Amino acid sequence: MRWKYCAQNPGFHDRGANFLAIACVSTLMFLISSEMLRAGILRGHGGPVKSVKLSSKGHTALTGSFDYTLIYWAISKSGSKLIKRLAGHDGAVNSVEFVPGKPLALSASDDGTVGIWHLGNLELVTRLKGHTAKVVDVVASPDGKFAASASWDSTIRLWDIEKQRQIAVLKGHRGNINSLTFSIDGQYLYSGGYDGTVRMWQVETGELMRTIYNHGWGINLVRTLPGARQLFIGTLDGAVNILDIESGKILRKLKPHKGPVLAGFVAGERGLAGASGGDGNIRIWSMKNWTLLHELHDPYGPVWALSFSSAKDSVLYGGLDDYVIDWDFNNESQLDEIKSKFPRRFQVINEDDLGARQFARRCSVCHTITPDGENRAGPSLYKVFGRRAGTVANYAYSKTLTNSDIIWSRETIGRLFNEGPQNYTPGTKMPLQRIQSKEEREALLDYLEKAGKVVSKAAAQPVN
Ligand code: HEC
Repeated sequence: MRWKYCAQNPGFHDRGANFLAIACVSTLMFLISSEMLRAGILRGHGGPVKSVKLSSKGHTALTGSFDYTLIYWAISKSGSKLIKRLAGHDGAVNSVEFVPGKPLALSASDDGTVGIWHLGNLELVTRLKGHTAKVVDVVASPDGKFAASASWDSTIRLWDIEKQRQIAVLKGHRGNINSLTFSIDGQYLYSGGYDGTVRMWQVETGELMRTIYNHGWGINLVRTLPGARQLFIGTLDGAVNILDIESGKILRKLKPHKGPVLAGFVAGERGLAGASGGDGNIRIWSMKNWTLLHELHDPYGPVWALSFSSAKDSVLYGGLDDYVIDWDFNNESQLDEIKSKFPRRFQVINEDDLGARQFARRCSVCHTITPDGENRAGPSLYKVFGRRAGTVANYAYSKTLTNSDIIWSRETIGRLFNEGPQNYTPGTKMPLQRIQSKEEREALLDYLEKAGKVVSKAAAQPVN
């Protein structure tokens, strides 16, 4: 009875309806076997997942995370397995890509570089340098020869993958460039950016051919559609549209998101396209007549990463959680338990504890505070008071911290966030962030002191 109501009530997943949601799901949990759920989750990252791509045959996948790493996965119907975590970037990994026909992968990072990885020996080949701001997208040409990267430095760069060399800097966009896609024959590159334009470039010469389309709001997603005459685009104001390349006209407007479109895929061989957004919605359409086939709402959106798995007939998606969800869209109830888990990393049980709130919102995306908590972008802050900087075993610190003789204390951590990491410890990998309110800093220090001593995970970890 109850679950029927849950399934039919459209407000079920609204944040405000949390109590109802928890009550409904506790009923549902008896109905769902745990085996089914386990197959649907890929665990290994230590931070939100920004990007996911399936290989062309669908038997392997790459994911990129806020935790500064990529993970290479084996995907199968019976469950997916982590092959290796690939570490080497000094910032969040925003985009990942397989190189067609070669055992190579590409990555784009907040550290301003494009990584090339060998999927045979599972090592970093090189990090391509040139961009002067974060790199948010990277794509490979269909023949596997070129990589193109989009950056918030307002440029696109073309790279020769084999020679590991920059071959052109494409200038024209005014502001951040968010998304790239090659034409099916590899001759052209299409880009979308914060200036609201979709542009077309010639790969051979690196020249801007023309601005195809101008949308009032930023463009977050561009993907080539089969047939090579249209693009599937997603925008900052939530529009999901089909754009005709020749005429620059919008041929069709699909159901929009409430908030930015963040990711999407085109699975030509299956005739499917999908998009996901900041509102937590994932929609899958048939490209034949653009009918909406499936719709999923993750109440804890945003969904930054989305890719179609042909091997399993499912989509892999990622967002705020450390895990990637493998959603078999022919089995919609599969994810009900995952969707209702509380508290998540950014939620705190005791909202009155200012320090716990500071930690959850400002630090927990990159740090745990338990002895068993690992794998985040930064080292565990368990027992951080009295510890010398740069000394957690098995964590790859910057030279700045390894060579530092700072001892972490209320005073030094207070200074770290009063002055900002880049000022107090120049050259650190921790991004610049300051906590200007003394009250918030003190509350955070109280929390670090208290929680950093507790051994039990349940007691120390109000989040995750
Ligand atoms: C976006 C990721 C990120 C966030 C958010 C972040 N950190 Fe860090 N933090 C790092 C990284 C990466 C390092 C390692 C820096 C290095 O090696 O230079 C680090 C290092 C540290 C260190 C030094 C630890 C040691 O073992 O020497 C402290 C202390 C620290 N962070 C505290 C915090 C606190 C407190 C917050 C929240 C207010 C926070 N960090 C938020 C990424 C982050």
